[in-house]
Amino acid sequence: MNAKVSAAGAKADIGRALRVGVIGAGVMGSNHARVLAGLPGVLLIGIVDPLPEHRTRAIDLVGCRAFETLDQLLAEGIDAVTIAAPTHLHHEIALACIARNIHILVEKPVASTVEEGREIVAAAERAGVTLMVGHVERFNPAVAAIKQAISGEDILSIGITRVGPFPPRMSNVGVVIDLAVHDIDLIRWFTESDIVEVQPQLSSAVAEREDIALLQFRTASGVLAHINTNWLTPFKARNVTVATRGKYVMGDLLTRQVTECFGFKPDGSYSMRHLPVGHDEPLRAELIAFLDAVRSGKLPAVSGDEGVASLEIAIRCLESPARPAATTMRKGPRRIAG
Ligand SMILES: NC(=O)c1ccc[n+]([C@@H]2O[C@H](COP(=O)([O-])OP(=O)(O)OC[C@H]3O[C@@H](n4cnc5c(N)ncnc54)[C@H](O)[C@@H]3O)[C@@H](O)[C@H]2O)c1
Repeated sequence: MNAKVSAAGAKADIGRALRVGVIGAGVMGSNHARVLAGLPGVLLIGIVDPLPEHRTRAIDLVGCRAFETLDQLLAEGIDAVTIAAPTHLHHEIALACIARNIHILVEKPVASTVEEGREIVAAAERAGVTLMVGHVERFNPAVAAIKQAISGEDILSIGITRVGPFPPRMSNVGVVIDLAVHDIDLIRWFTESDIVEVQPQLSSAVAEREDIALLQFRTASGVLAHINTNWLTPFKARNVTVATRGKYVMGDLLTRQVTECFGFKPDGSYSMRHLPVGHDEPLRAELIAFLDAVRSGKLPAVSGDEGVASLEIAIRCLESPARPAATTMRKGPRRIAG
């Protein structure tokens, strides 16, 4: 099958199974392949990775075919791919797929630089292919419950904590690009407004890149928000609080418990209730949303422009004048007991 013909025909040919590939057989790519293999209306054609051991792992885990190069995968005739290769390769791989009229979902962050991100967006627009960015947290049912709880409310402030231990594989990015970019996207999505001011405080206490970040923001709509993120907390925590004029909403994105306080009285009393939260696997919901956008030709749930906007704010946090303070931190290994 000719990939160009199949991609152009995908929107009209809703009844046909989509021929989908995954690029990168690491942690995320293996998960993409696992989920795609189980989706109705999808033919998982295979996964690409230059490393033989990662291809073998994907074959064992998912039972799909594995290819050494992108060209080998594309030669099979592909409608859509998900790109889960290292971030510095997103730009090159995305442009190569778009040039073949293949719809793409790019893992977050969309690219290494804003310029590269914009080039991906422009190329996808010119080719008329779907471009979605993998800000998977939007598909966390706890996040969806928070979004629904604050819908129509006058949002005043947002606080997000995303902390945990050092990742087992140190990549070449710090906590802002790796973790905070999720929450920058959530702040933009919750408020439906752009971030116009950033006040970052960063430290690299143990790692080369920043491993502690306290980030403050103001949105165009006047909401104050902060993100507390680090790789120094021995356990994972992901919490969101949103204060509106009428409510205070608290969500634990790991346990998926979402609670709202409301009905504030002059004597300080108020009511509280747990909100219903769904059980969907976020990655499954994200991939279904991507494939729906491919089939319908409608704007995807997380557009390329939104991915670039969140990356731009993350990079502004790294480039802000507060940055030199990071270098004044006492650096040294962490003490380990025993
Ligand atoms: N949405 C999320 O929550 C989330 C979580 C983790 C990572 N990510 C993103 O996913 C991407 C991958 O991260 P990861 O943690 O899976 O990394 P990883 O290192 O586990 O996997 C990357 C894989 O890409 C392969 N690769 C290298 N060059 C390639 C090429 N030219 N073509 C195809 N594959 C190639 C590597 O061999 C490796 O197997 C990154 O952009 C990262 O930011 C997103």
